[in-house]
Amino acid sequence: MSEQTVQIRTSGKVLQSPCGPIVHGLEDVLIKNTTISDIDGEKGILWYRGYRIEDLAKFSNYEEVSFLVLYGRLPTRSELKEYERRLKSSRDLHPATVEVIRALAKAHPMFALEAAVAAEGAYDEDNQKLIEALRVGRYKAEEKELAYRIAEKLIAKLPTMVAYHYRFSKGLELVRPRDDLSHAANFLYMMFGKEPDPLAAKGIDLYLILHADHEVPASTFTAHVVVSTLSDLYSSVAAAIAALKGPLHGGANEMAVRNYLEIGDPSKAKELVEAATKPGGPKLMGVGHRVYKAYDPRARIFKEFSRDYVAKFGDPKNLFAVASAIEHEVLNNPYFQQRKLYPNVDFWSGIAFYYMGVPYEYFTPIFAVSRVVGWVAHILEYWENNRIFRPRACYAGPHDLQYIPIDQR
Ligand code: CMC
Repeated sequence: MSEQTVQIRTSGKVLQSPCGPIVHGLEDVLIKNTTISDIDGEKGILWYRGYRIEDLAKFSNYEEVSFLVLYGRLPTRSELKEYERRLKSSRDLHPATVEVIRALAKAHPMFALEAAVAAEGAYDEDNQKLIEALRVGRYKAEEKELAYRIAEKLIAKLPTMVAYHYRFSKGLELVRPRDDLSHAANFLYMMFGKEPDPLAAKGIDLYLILHADHEVPASTFTAHVVVSTLSDLYSSVAAAIAALKGPLHGGANEMAVRNYLEIGDPSKAKELVEAATKPGGPKLMGVGHRVYKAYDPRARIFKEFSRDYVAKFGDPKNLFAVASAIEHEVLNNPYFQQRKLYPNVDFWSGIAFYYMGVPYEYFTPIFAVSRVVGWVAHILEYWENNRIFRPRACYAGPHDLQYIPIDQR
């Protein structure tokens, strides 16, 4: 735009540029109206479709919550039964997807999940039909029905993809999904080949409930950007998985537990926390949030579950003890207090998983297994009033430079 020096204010939300203010990281920028979830960041409250997550965590299960998130209301008993039947009948994967997962057996499971979702989309006939309709700008009742069917298939298939990757990575036979188990119990069954302990299945179910939606974080925003071009749902979910993978977003749950394992002893918590307060120091994983300026309500619920879990099965690696000591330091450290940085959902979530025998590389994939419903619900909501995302950047380099042939440079 011009050749002036760009004035950048690095410590704040807004960066100055020759073209005007830049809202760094789109903080507080609104992209749409939604009725899916709402966050009160000051009070630390999260609602899905108007229901407090504390109530859903106490009284519901992932099947019912995913119906609620996707369809906007709680199901009747018969609707829930029918929805569960449809999910169960869609758990299997296309053989090409299984081969993709097998080929990536040694890769981090998030890479495999991205690729598996894209592969499944390439072979899903409903997806091909929807793509054809969207190409000619048709999105009416018939196409919406297709889109919801695809959304349900994605919810049903992600656990199978993650469990199959685990089996391949260990050189084990695949364990086919079982129709008589819940979404959470079947997932653990496919991973470990035996019916899970009820508390472990409860823990996975709780985790899936608590991660089902969270308004528009980076992954959900990515999903919007992709479908705003009228690309397909599978591609959009694959892109959302790519965004979720980073340690500033869903990848933080893996990093948090790796920290707890590394320090191993509660007495070292202070050192870890203080290192995060130094300029240029490593960020403390599982702490801080763009929206919450209070304790993350999901973290509070999962902390209680983790406490119950280690009370039953023990804490041989000191994970709960170390996390508790880190939390104590964080809550009493002026650096975190002044910036209103509290433990977030990723702080506590991995502890029980680790003790269930789930390797930490699979924590973020399990996040995706839950959040897929939020992604698809937001995509379908956005398609009701679609407009392609196309922001601007302020050009701050030179113009009209003279091209110099390579042998004269
Ligand atoms: N450790 C140390 N300092 C921190 C941390 C942290 N975890 N989080 C934020 N800060 C500091 C940051 O350095 C900055 O300080 P200053 O004002 O002196 O420059 C201030 O707090 C504001 O932070 P920010 O980076 O501008 O905040 P943001 O809204 O851009 O980032 C965040 C939010 C979640 C990416 C960040 O808090 C973070 O990196 N946390 C650690 C990673 C993590 O736990 N992510 C999971 C988020 S919750 C689940 C999910 O959405 O996936």
